[in-house]
Amino acid sequence: MRVLLVGGGGREHALAWRLRQDNPSLEIIAAPGNPGIAELARCVPVGATDVAALLELARQERVDWTLVGPEAPLAAGVADAFRAAGQPIFGPTAAAAMLETSKAFTKSLMLGAGVPTARAWTCASYEESLRAIDALGAPVVVKASGLAAGKGVIVCQTAEEARDAARAMLDAHAFGAAGDTVLIEEFMEGEELSLFVLTDGERVVALPAAQDHKRLRDGDQGPNTGGMGAYCPVSLVGDDPTLVSTVLDRIVRPTLAAMHARGTPFAGLLYAGLMLTVDGPKVVEFNCRFGDPETEAVLPAIDPSAPLTDLMEAVARDGALDESVQLELSRAAVTTVLASAGYPEHPRTGDRIDLPRASEDVLVFHAGTKRDVNGTLVTAGGRVLAVTGVGSSLDIAAERSRSFAEAVAFDGKQLRRDIGWRELARRAT
Ligand code: AMP
Ligand code: GLY
Repeated sequence: MRVLLVGGGGREHALAWRLRQDNPSLEIIAAPGNPGIAELARCVPVGATDVAALLELARQERVDWTLVGPEAPLAAGVADAFRAAGQPIFGPTAAAAMLETSKAFTKSLMLGAGVPTARAWTCASYEESLRAIDALGAPVVVKASGLAAGKGVIVCQTAEEARDAARAMLDAHAFGAAGDTVLIEEFMEGEELSLFVLTDGERVVALPAAQDHKRLRDGDQGPNTGGMGAYCPVSLVGDDPTLVSTVLDRIVRPTLAAMHARGTPFAGLLYAGLMLTVDGPKVVEFNCRFGDPETEAVLPAIDPSAPLTDLMEAVARDGALDESVQLELSRAAVTTVLASAGYPEHPRTGDRIDLPRASEDVLVFHAGTKRDVNGTLVTAGGRVLAVTGVGSSLDIAAERSRSFAEAVAFDGKQLRRDIGWRELARRAT
């Protein structure tokens, strides 16, 4: 069996790792991959958004199916092109990926389907946004509607901050066309949860939930990032046997039904970013692919006997998902992200990385690394490595992740040392 894996970040390294765990004889071709993925796969220098070259590669290499990691190729129509050519692919069409690529579209879809989410105004001009900010009051959230590499959301404590954010997006085009439409959204209070759901467009199988850490610094301080760490299990889920089924019944199924009804069914991985409010779970955002860094925590923690790869392949082949399959955790996992100097604003690249040898209980996923002309491993992006510690308890996993993350060396390394703090605090009370 031969699989094409599209992408080259920490999430794709974790996907490659899991594919090989589930099927040790599997051959993986990665486009473009990275130095970590290269230990598990043959990496080819084809860009993740070069749809025509990816299709050519899949044909030439006679791959059995293709797994897409990031959102950008999906937004660029990779799944449409593969489907049209009869090549099995795991990932939604560009029209279905709008659940991530257009927050304005998704908000209106959710309203129509009665899916619980924050109230929001969709604004195409600064004047309109001023009225919305007045109406909702502070704190308030300003969001670029389009894809903005995880930076297009600004949580504003004051109306003035919100006006500045809206002006930057709508008048100064800080996020280009992605910010030509903005959402001014009610601030929701609560804990966040990331729930990944495999779906064939109708049937669903949920993965165990995880919690991300969006802020750069310990104690959830500093600017929002793509994610500085993640962990599972989350006891908020384990202690409430109805939470996941509530999310599936009130949020995921109605959203999938609405997508189906408009002729753009969503097949692939639906990532529900949730806020657990006093009024129940509400949608913060949807993504059309696995989350990063949650994937680096969840995949190593799912029971090795769970048929994750088989489920993805079934979806890729337009097969029906077996809803009775359970994807259970067999251990705890904590992922600490190591980011480069200057991240998230101006990440520096080219710093030499000293990587100690990992033990069995620590997995090191490469996110933004490359080999320079001398073969030396150097930083090549904002998030550089994702260090996952696994163990029989969260404390053990957290300690393994943190101590290995401390031992990795590169200039300007940034990391959080408190991944999982909410969970550990909950357990202490
Ligand atoms: P998003 O990219 O939409 O997930 O937003 C990034 C982060 O901003 C989320 O993970 C939340 O921490 C925060 N956020 C977004 N929308 C809201 C909201 N309506 N209320 C509170 N926090 C939010
Ligand atoms: N961890 C957030 C994301 O993948 O969008």
